[in-house]
Amino acid sequence: MNKGALILGIETSCDESAVAILRCSADGNSEVLLELVSSQTELHALYGGVVPELASREHMRNLPLLVDKGLSDAKLSLRDIGAIGVTVGPGLKGCLLIGALFAQGLALPGKIPLYGINHIEGHVLSVVLDNPGLSFPYLALVVSGGHTEIQIVRAVGQYELVARTTDDAAGEAFDKSANLMGFEYPGGAKLAALADTVASSDLKLPKVMREAPGFSFSGLKTAIANLVRHNHEILEQAEFRASLAFAIQDAIVDALLFKLAQAVKDTGIRKIAVCGGVSANKYLQAKLKAKYDQVYLAKSAHCVDNAAMIAFAAQSRRAAGLLPLANPLQIRPRWPLESV
Ligand code: KG4
Ligand code: ZN
Repeated sequence: MNKGALILGIETSCDESAVAILRCSADGNSEVLLELVSSQTELHALYGGVVPELASREHMRNLPLLVDKGLSDAKLSLRDIGAIGVTVGPGLKGCLLIGALFAQGLALPGKIPLYGINHIEGHVLSVVLDNPGLSFPYLALVVSGGHTEIQIVRAVGQYELVARTTDDAAGEAFDKSANLMGFEYPGGAKLAALADTVASSDLKLPKVMREAPGFSFSGLKTAIANLVRHNHEILEQAEFRASLAFAIQDAIVDALLFKLAQAVKDTGIRKIAVCGGVSANKYLQAKLKAKYDQVYLAKSAHCVDNAAMIAFAAQSRRAAGLLPLANPLQIRPRWPLESV
């Protein structure tokens, strides 16, 4: 096999250690040969959110095992790998450092080209990985636990910010609201599942940030906190809980759709790629598909954090002739996509 055709992806920016091997054929197609994820959700659930130091330690323990297992499951050795892509930002400092250092250790002895990849670039390109027919330009709605933004994706390496959250991310808004309702962290998907058991709600929550340029979910969180406080005794009633979950989901999705509609109007681009953990939300998907003809999603394993999207971003940059970072050890905990 052509050595340049295999790319190892490594992702450790938050609480998932992930490794993937991507095979790229001469006709430009990419196939995920193997992907492994070690999630730390259960560990962090004990603390109600991600604890950075614990996350770093878990990566340190898990990443070498995952790489070994990945190569051995794929019946490959490091010598077969033509390039490595590793997330160097944005994300948690210690977590990024462990991924970057480990990748450097793998790359240096055999002089394997090493690409430092932006995690959000991985997310916006993950939709192309799973929908090879998706052509540029498109609007990427990035909705995860740590990020919420709309980017114009003009080409690989050409990104233009349209809107970004000024406080919480959409997934965070789901998780914090779920927490106020008594769900265990991360409660976003649990809240969504309860919301989907009803078709409407009489509860009214504020329409968030209609006038300002970015997203903001902190006002919504305050409104939900007040609502929960004043309805504490009926929060145990199944009917009320479902109605509240519906209202919360509707308010978050409404904010996303409102800004997206503005972006479509301002840019004239009607091709929408949705990525990040919240793109798994069925209500959001249904609303988007009802409104737009061209809605693209990554497969569910690639909505959440994964290393296939990092390997694919590395491959896409390589194919576009964008050189590896001079120093992949230089991690960038804050690294806006539009500055890549
Ligand atoms: O992209 P991701 O795996 O991790 C980050 O990079 O943040 O996203 C995780 C986020 C969590 O906040 C989780 O609650 C949320 O995505 N999430 C959902 C759903 N599934 C996952 N939120 C709403 N509805 C869902 N079905
Ligand atoms: Zn992510």
